[in-house]
Amino acid sequence: MEQLSIKAYAKINLFLNIKGIRDDGYHELEMVMQSINLYDNIKISSRKKGINIETNSDEIPTGKDNLAYKAAQRVIDESNFSKGVNIFIDKNIPVAAGLAGGSTDAAAVIKGMNKYFNLDLEKDKLHDIASQVGSDVPFCLKPGTAFATGRGDKLEYLNSLKSYKVILVKPPVMVSTKKIYEMYDKSNYNIEIPIKKLLSNIKKRNSLNIKDGWANVLEPVTKNIVKEVETIENILKNKGFDFTLMTGSGPTVFSLVEKSKKELIEKTVQNWQRKQDFITHTETI
Ligand code: C5P
Repeated sequence: MEQLSIKAYAKINLFLNIKGIRDDGYHELEMVMQSINLYDNIKISSRKKGINIETNSDEIPTGKDNLAYKAAQRVIDESNFSKGVNIFIDKNIPVAAGLAGGSTDAAAVIKGMNKYFNLDLEKDKLHDIASQVGSDVPFCLKPGTAFATGRGDKLEYLNSLKSYKVILVKPPVMVSTKKIYEMYDKSNYNIEIPIKKLLSNIKKRNSLNIKDGWANVLEPVTKNIVKEVETIENILKNKGFDFTLMTGSGPTVFSLVEKSKKELIEKTVQNWQRKQDFITHTETI
């Protein structure tokens, strides 16, 4: 096989709750991660020595700061791999957006190198390497619907949702996840998320209704510094997309929409007035 090509899927958070700060400085989370059909294409091939990253994007680094590089380095350190690897990242997922774009590329590199180079790393080992690279990377190893706890790396996979359409809108702003968590720690917003009820709704395959308490506790924090989040949410809600939330630390806003509203979704995306935003529609997977 000359090269291996893998799809690296983005995620949204259907809810995100913070239980507290851990001894290691990370936050103890409770969230539902949901993969969506928006993906980067990762191509892996062999080279004599070293890690070489290339990309079509001018927004991501190609050196050691790229999570895909870190992932390749961890795989090399944890296996008896003796050659080098070429990684090409064909980027479609917006960067620093709350969609796990960097994490999913890293997960694809871990899975891809294991397969392409026949490294025989077991599932637990892959998970271990993934969580060393980043909190969202373990989930990205296996797309679907999962309840994530701990740093976000303890995963209970749930039955997949009935398929929903998803609108994504990202204002032309990047946010630092680290900074948003730090600001959260200094704030005192009080959002109660009825986690048991929400999980039960997923498990029973009930229709998901925003009135049941789906929320993201980081949302007011990000809204404070990125005013566009609220503006975009209001536009989407006014169009009748009730299930509208921010994903991760933002600033991407998504609407989860019944498939029957396909035409309204397409019209909304086509006629979007804020031309500087990234906007697309996709579906849950
Ligand atoms: O794990 P990852 O490197 O992707 O996390 C990025 C940043 O987000 C961390 O440096 C930390 O500031 C914050 N974070 C956190 N608690 C988590 C996950 C991430 O505080 N559970």
